[in-house]
Amino acid sequence: MIRVLGARFVDAVHEAGCYPDGIHPAIGRAQEIAFAGRSNVGKSSLINALVGRRGLARTSKVPGRTRQLNFYVVETLRGTVVFVDLPGYGYARVSRNEHAGWRLLVESYLEERPTLSGIVLVVDLRRGIESEERELLCYLRLHGRPAVVAATKIDKLPRGTRRGALQAIADAAGGVEVVGVSGETREGREELWRRLTLPPIACLAKRPAAHMRTP
Ligand code: GTP
Ligand code: MG
Repeated sequence: MIRVLGARFVDAVHEAGCYPDGIHPAIGRAQEIAFAGRSNVGKSSLINALVGRRGLARTSKVPGRTRQLNFYVVETLRGTVVFVDLPGYGYARVSRNEHAGWRLLVESYLEERPTLSGIVLVVDLRRGIESEERELLCYLRLHGRPAVVAATKIDKLPRGTRRGALQAIADAAGGVEVVGVSGETREGREELWRRLTLPPIACLAKRPAAHMRTP
């Protein structure tokens, strides 16, 4: 079981290439996991569920809440990891310019970030994998980025229908592992953590940063 000792927001990045390397020593060393997915799907809620802190990443009923890359340092008993909350795609109320800006920001991060060890593609269990998700998985494969699919909002589906919905996502994910989760009830939290700490994602640095240790 993963025990989270502390988690904190360290930086927000609005511009491609301006990542917090070297500014925050903990980020310089630690491996990162980025959370990608459709706007309003539950990326920020899932980060909160994984670290066990409701208000760490800001969530909203209104799509498009997260407009920048938010970096969080998470210290666990087994080491330190950085979670990066990416702005969501598929948000209709954005101009062409804003969309181009989003693409540049997210793609340059996904392609160039040396400390990125893997991506959690968050999908709504009820919607499954649609063309955007298929494209993103293809893109990640092309760039050699390991991924896992987190099928979230599992609490919104009756228990009897969950297995079928997860299988449909697994069938469409082309070999990428799928974990059912809920940002609301925290179901699947341990399984997702387990997946993130195994190769090919294996995101924990060996030693926790001293300044993050709780007394
Ligand atoms: P953007 O930042 O806009 O891209 O959205 P996001 O993907 O970060 O979604 P966010 O976590 O803000 O959640 C969107 C809405 O869905 C909020 O009202 C959450 O409370 C709700 N929500 C997220 N995850 C779950 C879940 O697992 N179950 C339920 N029932 N609601 C959820
Ligand atoms: Mg968000």
